[in-house]
Amino acid sequence: MSDPTGSPSAPPPGCPAHGSAVQLAGLQYQQTPSQLYRSLRREHGPVAPVLLDGDIPAWLVLGYPEVSYVTSHDELFARDSRRWNQWDAIPPDWPLLPYVGYQPSVLFTEGTEHQRRAGVITQALEGVDQFELARECELIAGQLISSFAGSGEAELMSTYAHALPARGVLWMCGMPQDSTDTEQLVDDLRISLDAGEGDDPVAAYMRVGERIMQLVKEKRERPGSDVTSRMLLDPAGLGDEEIVQDLISVIAAAQQPTANWICNTLRLLLTDERFALNVSGGRVSVGEALNEVLWLDTPTQNFIGRWAVRDTQLGGRLIREGDCLVLGLAAANTDPQIWPESHVGAENSAHLSFSNGEHRCPYPAPLLADVMARTAVETLLERLPDLVLAVEAGELTWRPSVWMRGLTSLPVRFTPTVQ
Ligand code: HEM
Repeated sequence: MSDPTGSPSAPPPGCPAHGSAVQLAGLQYQQTPSQLYRSLRREHGPVAPVLLDGDIPAWLVLGYPEVSYVTSHDELFARDSRRWNQWDAIPPDWPLLPYVGYQPSVLFTEGTEHQRRAGVITQALEGVDQFELARECELIAGQLISSFAGSGEAELMSTYAHALPARGVLWMCGMPQDSTDTEQLVDDLRISLDAGEGDDPVAAYMRVGERIMQLVKEKRERPGSDVTSRMLLDPAGLGDEEIVQDLISVIAAAQQPTANWICNTLRLLLTDERFALNVSGGRVSVGEALNEVLWLDTPTQNFIGRWAVRDTQLGGRLIREGDCLVLGLAAANTDPQIWPESHVGAENSAHLSFSNGEHRCPYPAPLLADVMARTAVETLLERLPDLVLAVEAGELTWRPSVWMRGLTSLPVRFTPTVQ
């Protein structure tokens, strides 16, 4: 593989503030992203100059070696967005502000402070018993399925794929199941991460913060066997505010990508004949489908981001101090350099869907996400074995987002049952 830093070029080709930059927006990111990434790569190489909302310049890192390089060189490409050289151009209502605006959470910390915060999260997640989590997710799945099983039809995104990981992660954090409080929190999380018409995401986010603070106070008084209590008892001694920030990061980081992982896997199973019913009547290869989705339809297709600590080179580009880099995780996963035969396979898990390096999705989290996603898919297929799509596969639509890859809805039909 080539040296990801490439060679210095003069004048700096495709400075993102200049003419050749492409909009990081549009239908192609939803409908045919792999073709789009291929043509971007052909035209611009592994690091493309792009324009974010409002024509704010940034770099989209498309190559597998380049994304690996950026994520493993924190000293050059760091996480604290206050470094950005574009803050003067950002309006107060900029749509990406919730993802890019600095918050004092694990997401934006660096160096030893990041190690401290991420270490506490890692230890706390390591304490989750995967068998217990699977059992709990099966119960949650059962309850959700019974709410629509009798009708013979359902829209799985809203009634199942989103609800299950939200409840699963709140259970891990020690929220009581089956309480109106938890239901309200699940609803507020949905609104604050993915507001629909008439929703007030800011008010919902405030309520999430208040309820998590209350949880932290409850667990300080009566610790249990849950992620929140383990974070509180960790010798690193994080304060309540830090724990609230990091719990919200954990819950938000878990909910959306796991929901889209579930839904993208169900879509693959329901639309691709390789995964159809086998002769014995059981579905095969849920594990393969989960892994194939991480290669080909990864939930976090682009992640913003990293900020250059100083002038440097990457993929033949001159990157200026304070430039913003978007990690093109989906593009990297389908990089022809790692799939020379144009065969993108599911045989291994060397994809970058959980990112890489110091800030990658913390080690136990992908395993826990796998437990939630696998249990969600398997339980649904077991309980509703004749489940089929209620529309033609071509009628399914992807969400209008360049960041997350997930469906707007997943309508299905099945024989009505009483569960
Ligand atoms: C139990 C479920 C999950 C939990 C608890 C979780 C937790 C986290 C946390 C705490 C971070 C921040 C790490 C840091 O900044 O140090 C993170 C980052 C991330 N996670 Fe996860 N996550 C989960 C599931 C997923 C899934 C299903 C995906 C995608 C398939 C995913 C992809 C990512 C990515 C791309 C990042 C960004 C890493 C970076 O900045 O390089 N996560 N996750």
